[in-house]
Amino acid sequence: MTRDLETMCGIFAAVSDKPVAHILLEGLKRLEYRGYDSAGIAMLDDHKLKRVCAVGKVTELESRMDSEAFPGCIGIAHTRWATHGSPSEANSHPHMADGVAVVHNGIVENHGELRRRLKRQGCSFLSETDSEVIPWLISRAVAGGAGAANAVRSLSDDLEGSYAVAVLTEADGDVLHAKRHGSPLVAALGPLGGYLSSDISALAGFADEAIVLDDGDQVELRRDAIAVFDKSGRAVTRPRMTVEAVGNDFDKGGYPHYMLKEIHDQPGVARAIESRYDAGDFIAEQVTLDFNRIDRIRMIACGTSYYACQVARRWFAEVAGLSADVELASEHRYEPVVADGLREAAILVSQSGETADTLASLDKLKGLRVPTVGIVNQQGSTLAREADFFLPLLAGKEIGVASTKAFLAQLLVLARLVAHAADQRGHRAAAKRLRTALVAAPKAIEAALHNESAIVAVAESLAKAQSALFVGRGALYPLAMEGALKLKEISYIHAEGFAAGELKHGPIALVDDKTPIVALAPSGDLFPKLASNLREIAARNGRIILLGDRKALLALSDIASASLTLPSCDELIQPIVAAVPLQFLAYYVAVARGLDIDRPRNLAKSVTVE
Ligand code: F6R
Repeated sequence: MTRDLETMCGIFAAVSDKPVAHILLEGLKRLEYRGYDSAGIAMLDDHKLKRVCAVGKVTELESRMDSEAFPGCIGIAHTRWATHGSPSEANSHPHMADGVAVVHNGIVENHGELRRRLKRQGCSFLSETDSEVIPWLISRAVAGGAGAANAVRSLSDDLEGSYAVAVLTEADGDVLHAKRHGSPLVAALGPLGGYLSSDISALAGFADEAIVLDDGDQVELRRDAIAVFDKSGRAVTRPRMTVEAVGNDFDKGGYPHYMLKEIHDQPGVARAIESRYDAGDFIAEQVTLDFNRIDRIRMIACGTSYYACQVARRWFAEVAGLSADVELASEHRYEPVVADGLREAAILVSQSGETADTLASLDKLKGLRVPTVGIVNQQGSTLAREADFFLPLLAGKEIGVASTKAFLAQLLVLARLVAHAADQRGHRAAAKRLRTALVAAPKAIEAALHNESAIVAVAESLAKAQSALFVGRGALYPLAMEGALKLKEISYIHAEGFAAGELKHGPIALVDDKTPIVALAPSGDLFPKLASNLREIAARNGRIILLGDRKALLALSDIASASLTLPSCDELIQPIVAAVPLQFLAYYVAVARGLDIDRPRNLAKSVTVE
């Protein structure tokens, strides 16, 4: 499996007996959140292929299409995140060759060799991409007498790497052909026609059910029929998944950005998790692991999801008496294996369920026969389907590139898994305390949202800084790192999170009167230690932005240049509550700097490249 070579591009295609241009544009808009830098569409118009592409946003593509008629009833569309070749019109998909148009998600590893071979055969290339060899391979096969379906089938003889492709040909103009190897692709039929998409959620409203293709599968999609064939060419029936209604997920709900809407969605997410997880014994039904027979938990994730695991590591130790290691998937996948005889279970946490490094870790763990629990937001994603056990995050679609509500959902679900493990291991009092704290979480999250207006003023001053430090201790140390990540990814201000006790070992050299220090300092066991760390900063003219409950803010009022109130709650769930002001802070700093908050530069929502 060559998962690590996938790209973040998005595929959407439609066939109907009515014009599909607006459907293709809507599909692309729903895939925008994945990250892209150009977009394009190819449609059949009067048996002839017509292509339109634009660098930049889908709205740019849309305005180009406004000036011309696109009456076709079949088409393929693509958002491209540049890998081979810069973002340009020539490099945008669809790529075309002699009556064949192709959109591709993946990387053709042997494209150099194929390109040389095709050039010798007279094919000419217009782009620098690896993908352009694909329409040429198909058109050569069609010219040699193969039907379009066989031409697509024979791609697997030539292509090395990973791919999901959707293909439209002038020769077979009623059918969309598609094939998948390594990169995700789903197919569906709805009342208006047939669809292909990289992402099941983009089909909401178009179809009620979708087929998640297996590796090697090929599809022939007509307006009213889907046929799926496995890698040996045999017709197969694949299970169908419900396309969850998106509700208002794709709607900003009156907010100027998805990120702000998603921050405000959080009390609702907490309640959705409560009603699914706390009604019966949901976790026991989903995860049939015996935590009494486990010596160590291994948690694997990337980015924000990794910080959620860092919080859970402390919960596992404190509440369930179970030691847990947390590893970055990008490191874990290449780490040497030490057989120390400990019985392990692995927890892999991901919003998208398609992060290449996390999936590579999943493969590695499966090879080692370690039982795996996938905690995932995206329904039908690879991690959700392939982990031994699956716990849904129920955060709804997260569209803003900076993760907010999925992070909070990860903490809430991980906490419940910890309480379940603690019960099984006989740590009943600790489990009960955590469960009681969780009951109070939705209200505490709501209370944290009330701080929004106070944060705006603080953010305006932070927006002028060149660099910011975030500090915390214990379970709030990962939140300091998460706060710094949030700030840097959407405001482009350099930010770093530290364990407050580490400052003296180096980072305190960065403290001056220009560098704001965001301190996570609610009352609790570690407060006196943290207070001393903060006084050391104040003694060096550090500008402290203090986040704490009333008691903590009062105790440190003499050294804070700004204070933001956190609602009081059990120390165990402080990381959950503290997430909210950190998200607001990053958001309003980016607003003050006038940046593209939902689509920060260079980032993609679903990181499917290594
Ligand atoms: C930051 C952010 C990323 C993701 C990371 C992992 O706001 O969203 O750091 O957390 O790319 O993605 P998933 O959770 O989809 O595996």
